[in-house]
Amino acid sequence: MATAPSSTYSAITLNINGEKYPLSVDHRTTLLDALRERLDLTGTKKGCDQGQCGACTVLLDGRRAVACLQLAVAAEGREITTIEGMAEGEQLHPVQQAFLDLDGYQCGYCTPGQICSAVAVIEEHAAGWPSAVTDDVRPEAGPPPLTADEIRERMSGNLCRCGAYVSIVQAVARAAATRTESAQDTESTETTETTETAA
Ligand code: FES
Ligand code: FES
Repeated sequence: MATAPSSTYSAITLNINGEKYPLSVDHRTTLLDALRERLDLTGTKKGCDQGQCGACTVLLDGRRAVACLQLAVAAEGREITTIEGMAEGEQLHPVQQAFLDLDGYQCGYCTPGQICSAVAVIEEHAAGWPSAVTDDVRPEAGPPPLTADEIRERMSGNLCRCGAYVSIVQAVARAAATRTESAQDTESTETTETTETAA
């Protein structure tokens, strides 16, 4: 693993899925190659290797990024989340569960990228970020309804050669609804606790 010191190599530590991974990398190594070839985290897929298909999507500090266009050295200090970090033990992430329940895949090659992207899409939407198809982009308008058009636009960076788009859109919609319900449950529990404390 250790590589002789060189002006083209650096010793870095990547923070991936909550774990620290020290490694020495050529400065030209992409995050995608570091994940797959150096760290054996092969859940992140290589499709085009030029930023066009989304198969290599990971989260950097919670935001979507295509790992094939990110240098590993530039990812040091960032919180990297890959598909391997989505589940909590045996408990799948709600987006993973929705893809499973609604057949949001066929061959599965694009699926890790689709899921990472969908996780961020749902958070971006909940935070009120507009998309290119949002009618009312005023901040006070709040999040637009997460229609199929909204989901298709927001997920448009992730291609699926099997054409499983119909099920993917349904899975994202299901996972977003699950997130909303769970946020409402948390809110109502907090309100009840506040009321009981005040009484
Ligand atoms: S492999 Fe990175 S976008 Fe296609
Ligand atoms: S499920 Fe095969 S490429 Fe998307």
